[in-house]
Amino acid sequence: MKKIGVLTGGGDCPGLNAVIRAIVKTALRNKWVTVGIKNGWKGLIEGDIFVLTDTLVSSILPKGGTILGTSRTNPFKEGGNVEKITENIKKFGIDAIVAIGGEDTLGVSAKLHKIGIPIVGVPKSIDNDLYGTDYSVGFDTAVSIATEAMDRLHTTAESHHRVIVVEIMGRHTGWIATFAGIASGADEILIPEHPYDIDEICSNLKGRYERGKTFSIVVVSEGAKPKAGDELVIQTDEKDEFGHVRLGGIGSVLAREIEQRLGFETRVTVLGHVQRGGTPTAYDRILATRLGVAAIELIKEDNYGKMVALQGNKIVPIELGEAVSKLKTVNTHLYRIAEGFFG
Ligand code: F6P
Repeated sequence: MKKIGVLTGGGDCPGLNAVIRAIVKTALRNKWVTVGIKNGWKGLIEGDIFVLTDTLVSSILPKGGTILGTSRTNPFKEGGNVEKITENIKKFGIDAIVAIGGEDTLGVSAKLHKIGIPIVGVPKSIDNDLYGTDYSVGFDTAVSIATEAMDRLHTTAESHHRVIVVEIMGRHTGWIATFAGIASGADEILIPEHPYDIDEICSNLKGRYERGKTFSIVVVSEGAKPKAGDELVIQTDEKDEFGHVRLGGIGSVLAREIEQRLGFETRVTVLGHVQRGGTPTAYDRILATRLGVAAIELIKEDNYGKMVALQGNKIVPIELGEAVSKLKTVNTHLYRIAEGFFG
């Protein structure tokens, strides 16, 4: 008999509950117990832990968010918290932890594993920037939401002969912008990996107008930067416990600049947290289920310090240290495909 502790950390996303359900149900089949740790690392520090029964996870598969709650608590930020974590693991009799998270949560997991805590990671991130996995839970849903939004923006932009700038999440990488931009036929896609040139964008938009296309959709990741200058547009420079500032506002900056330079009526839409809400796509539900089951398989083998990852069609274990060693950025080949449809 094993007792598994499961937590969700960092930004929420659709598909987290599907992972939790897969873990609890697979553990139960092995006659193991799963306890839920509330609000990420915060719950493990504070001992906010409860038993997850079959009834509690029944019917959560299509539900967005996380029944465990989440936080951006970093246990390494303040002294004494790691000791509290070790004490609570002992106190609650937890044999292994499954941490469902992105770069920050899994970064903490890698460090905790180094000091001897048995831990397995499951990748989730709408940004899809975790290294070593083709997809993270939540990404496919975010792309679907953004694509649908852009399809809708297309028709209103066309009717009013406007430029619409759509600001999309993606702190360090432009995966959602690139995928949703390609899927919806965006006329420009600006991402952090490829600093943009405002002269080039305006010349493309002008060219479209001259060819009789009197509307345009410009997609921009919140972390995109111009070629000239290195400044991110931020909402506040207050940092979270992992040192991240809150991005946002690049869409308005761009819209103003485009309108001033070209005289085209321009609007901005910020998709924001809508991209993280609601029910997961079928793809995310299946990925979440496969990853949850794989996490339990690793625990069965006492194979810790790993993240379960999707590589091609297979779920494979990779070292947590490797998964957080760098970010997975949008590759140039994919961006060139997107660029082929600009203007
Ligand atoms: O990491 C996921 C993400 O949605 C980023 O794309 C975004 O910059 C950030 O989280 C927003 O964080 P918060 O939920 O704290 O506003």
